Amino acid sequence: MRRVPDTPRPLTIVGAGGHGRELLDVVEAVNAASSPAPYAFLGFLDDGHGGDPGAVARRGAALLGGLDLLGSLDADYLIGVEDALARARVDRYASVHGRRPVTLVHPRASLGGDVQLGPGTVVYALASITTNVRTGRHVVVNIGASVAHDCRLGDYVTLAPGARIAGGVTIGAQAWIGAQASIVGRRRIGERVVVGTGSVVTDDIRAVAVVTGVPARPIDTIADHPRAAPRPRDPPAGRRDAPLPEQPG
Ligand SMILES: CC(C)(COP(=O)(O)OP(=O)(O)OC[C@H]1O[C@@H](n2cnc3c(N)ncnc32)[C@H](O)[C@@H]1OP(=O)(O)O)[C@@H](O)C(=O)NCCC(=O)NCCS
Repeated sequence: MRRVPDTPRPLTIVGAGGHGRELLDVVEAVNAASSPAPYAFLGFLDDGHGGDPGAVARRGAALLGGLDLLGSLDADYLIGVEDALARARVDRYASVHGRRPVTLVHPRASLGGDVQLGPGTVVYALASITTNVRTGRHVVVNIGASVAHDCRLGDYVTLAPGARIAGGVTIGAQAWIGAQASIVGRRRIGERVVVGTGSVVTDDIRAVAVVTGVPARPIDTIADHPRAAPRPRDPPAGRRDAPLPEQPG
């Protein structure tokens, strides 16, 4: 029996804002580097919060409709939304509807041996991951970020451009590491921690803290942060004795 080729796979990106359009760059680069091109990009899904119709049109891309279309569209998907909680929500919705996330590595990223990327994880241009690294679902390793040996990145973690993660670091689910921030080796970063731009993390950080500076110190809890949904029972930030997340994978 003749095998039906599974490429190009129809693909949609959820979120037509800046992050979604950056993701399209990665899709196009992956397509340009392979023959035949692995993906047929159908267009963006956006509920109207992040989409910029002009910017989408200049990419020659279509705005197909809202997230609810993901249920009926016969396409794999990527999540082009920066906010980790929103990524988790889209992932749940897509899973319920049987949609498959695509895992994507830009051809100009560098990946070492024994690297396992979770479903929906995207590694952008000039990012580098060395060896024995595991990521959870829908992790973003943005432009020029680096992840050294033996790191564990939980579900929906974001490494902003140029973030530097030294060896043996564990980062909890939904944590967000700002642009050019650094984390010293073997530190443990709790779930939903936010690390400010350019900060240097030298201690373990317990869950939900927002930390900035050199060395990084707590300034807030993410429950009070505009990025987050309210969580009235969040613990105070800044203590080192709280439980830290299990390693993914
Ligand atoms: C950490 C962060 C999320 C905090 O945002 P916020 O809650 O709006 O905080 P504010 O801007 O009100 O700042 C609160 C205090 O922290 C300080 N601060 C904020 N970010 C800081 C940083 N990165 N380094 C050092 N200090 C910082 C502010 O100067 C301010 O100090 P003050 O109270 O003495 O005036 C934000 O500043 C940040 O760094 N975002 C990362 C942006 C980024 O990397 N984007 C990548 C996009 S791809």
